[in-house]
Amino acid sequence: MRRKLVVGNWKMHGSLAQNAVLLGALKSGATQLSRVDVAVCAPFPYLDQLRQELSASTVKWGAQDVHQLEKGAFTGEVSAPMLADFGCTYVIVGHSERRNIYGESSSLVAEKFAAAQQAGLIPILCVGETLEQRESSATEAVVAEQLDAVIALAGAQALRKAVVAYEPVWAIGTGETASPEQAQAVHAFIRQRVAGHDAEVAQGLVILYGGSVKGANAPELFSMADIDGGLIGGAALIADEFLAICRAGQ
Ligand code: PGA
Repeated sequence: MRRKLVVGNWKMHGSLAQNAVLLGALKSGATQLSRVDVAVCAPFPYLDQLRQELSASTVKWGAQDVHQLEKGAFTGEVSAPMLADFGCTYVIVGHSERRNIYGESSSLVAEKFAAAQQAGLIPILCVGETLEQRESSATEAVVAEQLDAVIALAGAQALRKAVVAYEPVWAIGTGETASPEQAQAVHAFIRQRVAGHDAEVAQGLVILYGGSVKGANAPELFSMADIDGGLIGGAALIADEFLAICRAGQ
């Protein structure tokens, strides 16, 4: 039985004062969560605050992006060894906002995934289709291409210490959630695809759903066989809402 995992993706939100309130609520709420793992991925300037606030708590933390190389003349970038050195557990790679706004290709995302893992971080690999792709029945082909790029570079074994997040682009921040059945179908497809390489890795793989998850829809989503938790955007900024989602994983 896979443990549920709920990860908050703050995106480019927060301030020291707001985060302090949110983290305070999260820390105390997390003490009642014994059967779900919880993590928060924050903007780089706030990682120090997470390190300080969460060091004595069960809540893990990490970053939202990483450079694919270890070091070099890449002004403004942050490498995986730096994030590991700092104490991050997780890093998100290939979020649809990175793919679509910043033009990150699946092969670049695969390099970021491999770099994160090599540094000892747990990559959270985001995959998912746009509305246009779903409407043209390309969902499985898109998700397969995004997943296969990582497997081709890092091997299926690499997914033993990684998390996959299925986030249909049309459901992110739109208030429109995939139905539990729609999400389950893609999660099962992802697991099957990995099983084609390694059945044991596929069985243990934690696959999160992301896209307008809220306290109200989390219980039904999380009850599906292949949905192992959530990657939460907007609702991760509201303590009560985020904790309600976490409790749905209990
Ligand atoms: P949302 O974002 O929960 O606000 O839809 C999810 C995400 O982008 O990770």
